[in-house]
Amino acid sequence: MRFVDVIDKKAEGLALGREEIDAMIQGYTDGDIPDYQMSAMCMAIRLKGMNAQETAWMTDAMMHSGDTADLSDLRGIKLDKHSTGGVGDTTTLVVAPLVAACGGTVAKMSGRGLGHTGGTLDKLESVPGTSVEISLERFKDIVRENGVAVIGQSGNLVPADKKIYALRDVTATVRSIPLIASSIMSKKLASGADAIVLDVKTGSGAFMREKEEAFALAKEMVSIGNAMGRKVRALVTDMNQPLGMAVGNALEVREAVQLLSGMIPETDPLYRVCILLGVQMMRMGGLAQTDAEAEKKLKNAIHDGSGLQRLRRMIELQGGDGSYISMDRIDELVQVRKKIDVTAQEDGFVSSMDAEEIGTAAQMLGAGRAKKDDTIDPAVGLIMQVRCGYEVHKGSPLCTLYVNDDRALEEVIAKVRNAVKTDLQPKPVNDMVYGIVTEADL
Ligand code: URA
Ligand code: CA
Repeated sequence: MRFVDVIDKKAEGLALGREEIDAMIQGYTDGDIPDYQMSAMCMAIRLKGMNAQETAWMTDAMMHSGDTADLSDLRGIKLDKHSTGGVGDTTTLVVAPLVAACGGTVAKMSGRGLGHTGGTLDKLESVPGTSVEISLERFKDIVRENGVAVIGQSGNLVPADKKIYALRDVTATVRSIPLIASSIMSKKLASGADAIVLDVKTGSGAFMREKEEAFALAKEMVSIGNAMGRKVRALVTDMNQPLGMAVGNALEVREAVQLLSGMIPETDPLYRVCILLGVQMMRMGGLAQTDAEAEKKLKNAIHDGSGLQRLRRMIELQGGDGSYISMDRIDELVQVRKKIDVTAQEDGFVSSMDAEEIGTAAQMLGAGRAKKDDTIDPAVGLIMQVRCGYEVHKGSPLCTLYVNDDRALEEVIAKVRNAVKTDLQPKPVNDMVYGIVTEADL
């Protein structure tokens, strides 16, 4: 089989066979297929698509391109969650400890933030001492003791995705449903969880700009999980504004601590999405018989402080100073040289926000990486003071910047102003949650 013929087949819009897909993934991972051929293949896939069977085969081949984590010696149903990448999305730091407090086993391998979206690992590392590079055995011990641990993916988990993603990033082939679905699901399946809840974002800050595309991606991933014998459910949620108010590493940890301390109202979008994700995990994990029961247990773990206690203990077991995980000390992690309000330039109502631009603004202040080996300043970022639908007046704050290095400050201020659009009349606001996709929807 010549790979050029396989590219041609896909470019003609034909479905590939299992051997062709296996040979492609193995050949590219081993370096036998050159970048230029794989680039052409990714573009053919982006333009012609893949059917559900091809996508499942591709995921399987990618998953087995390197090591897989064996969690079978942990008790119960191993639960995981994944977000397709959001701004101000600190749900993992809330949901994972809450579900553990309700008796769940949450063994999560996570990624780093790149570009405008933050990564859970970077947020955890903003708590002094915390390590996310931990051996699989130690990781499992922590999960045994505390019900929850969050670590980085080990070096040789899905090497095929590392190579393919780097190529897609520079060949305009990221935005393809079969390529995104196989990339995400190969990593989730290789991490060893039995049940996974996905949060598929749609809107200005997401890969999937349109709601219909997001549902199609959600369905594809649920279908892959199903084909591979795992339970998968997906929420489709709005990313037309940051999910929480905080965008930045320690700032988002603080927001998680506030939520777990019962200081954020139940109507808050971050609170609602956390509960909905938690409910799906509880149901898949057999920890509640109904959604209402799951919700009640999760809220109880907020009110009695047991969720916060799990987060604190997890930080400690991962080498960090858990005493910061309390309302008494968390502010110490967000000490910066100066705080600057970005103000509205006219009266009106916030009609839309560009979440990607807000994420980029926080990144430019030092909260994120533009390149893989850039360093992060854990304390910096921004706190939104408004959400879509809020009334603003000329001179009233849109957001507060937490700044240590003001080199890019003028540009950041302009970016935030530009990202928050106002209108004279209030407009209806998108619901944060568009729907949920389960096995029953396939
Ligand atoms: N996240 C991933 O891990 N892969 C993609 O292709 C897109 C988002
Ligand atoms: Ca994330």
